[in-house]
Amino acid sequence: MPQLDLAMQYAAIGAEIRTAVEQVMASQQFVLGREGTALEQEIDKLCGVAHGVGLASGTDALILALRACGVKAGDEVLLPPFTFVATGSAVSALGAKPVFVDIRPDTYNMDPAELARRVTPRTRAIIVVHLYGLPADMAPILAFAKTRKLPVIEDNAQAIGASYKGRPTGSLADAGCLSFYPTKNLSAYGDAGMVVTNSAEIAARVRTLRNHGQSAKYLSSEPGWNSRLDEIQAAILRVKLRHLSNWQRARQSLAAEYNRLFSQFPGVMPPLAPDGFEHVYHQYTIRSEQRDALHKFLSERKIGSTVYYPYPLHLQPLYSALGHRAGNFPHSERAAQEVLSLPMYPELRKEQIARVVETIAEFLKC
Ligand SMILES: Cc1ncc(COP(=O)(O)O)c(C=O)c1O
Repeated sequence: MPQLDLAMQYAAIGAEIRTAVEQVMASQQFVLGREGTALEQEIDKLCGVAHGVGLASGTDALILALRACGVKAGDEVLLPPFTFVATGSAVSALGAKPVFVDIRPDTYNMDPAELARRVTPRTRAIIVVHLYGLPADMAPILAFAKTRKLPVIEDNAQAIGASYKGRPTGSLADAGCLSFYPTKNLSAYGDAGMVVTNSAEIAARVRTLRNHGQSAKYLSSEPGWNSRLDEIQAAILRVKLRHLSNWQRARQSLAAEYNRLFSQFPGVMPPLAPDGFEHVYHQYTIRSEQRDALHKFLSERKIGSTVYYPYPLHLQPLYSALGHRAGNFPHSERAAQEVLSLPMYPELRKEQIARVVETIAEFLKC
């Protein structure tokens, strides 16, 4: 049993996808066309925002959102160290400095209580990550940002469709960044991303930056680059978007089944979804002190599982010059040693979940 099975999704919707791709081929319009515009409008609706700007990747979404929020070389940006490396490397790409804020051990998301310890006069923005599909606790983060007049960017790469206190993630702060990387809940057949925002100013700036800084045809007012969303990816994403709410419900129901079965024995910590935090289970991630042995045990029994992520950013060779050491961000470090993501995709069957949980129970008895 794989941890993610995209072939099953393709078997179900392949015909719709092929028709959509064929239509793009027939139109012979491959970038910045009607599919991209329609996708932007549909995602705006889903995320409850006024503007969406389609881009080439989620990493570009972070870089361009940071630029649109005024982050420049030498600035500091607060972000959690327990995330995919792109959250930090987007900051580094601008010559800015990532300043890490530890996570809460129960949600794996940024601990708002830690912000005051890490902010400095050079801080220019905060990036919040909704890891694994669970919204971060935005209210105290936004309250802190307001007192310091700092823009907040949501790294919503893993949480499209989630909501916090009734409002969609991506709409909660100054800008939301989406990734449509092939493993994401809404995924392209290649790379793609989007910035969503209620700010007309941020949207206009990202729109200009994604196309060589051109404010009019062949007239560039600042250095941008090419981060245009292509029409084939947009057409595929529009097909998949029609299925997203069903897939989301399936993920939530599968997670509830895992939770029900895991509640019968201790030794494994299932994911938490506090009241008012709607989790979309991009990953169903447990933690165990015997994680590495469990990972091996499952793999020997042909059950796929993955460690997202084994190294927190502050201990990555990429950031050795920042001078962090083990022990600096203990909750992130412990999570990196203990988390394990189990099979999770909408087509997974409850019998398969029972087998995963039985196998873990067998491991715990050894
Ligand atoms: C939390 C997070 N941030 C950023 C990204 C970057 O997105 P992309 O791969 O589309 O550049 C990803 C996914 O890959 C991610 O999971």
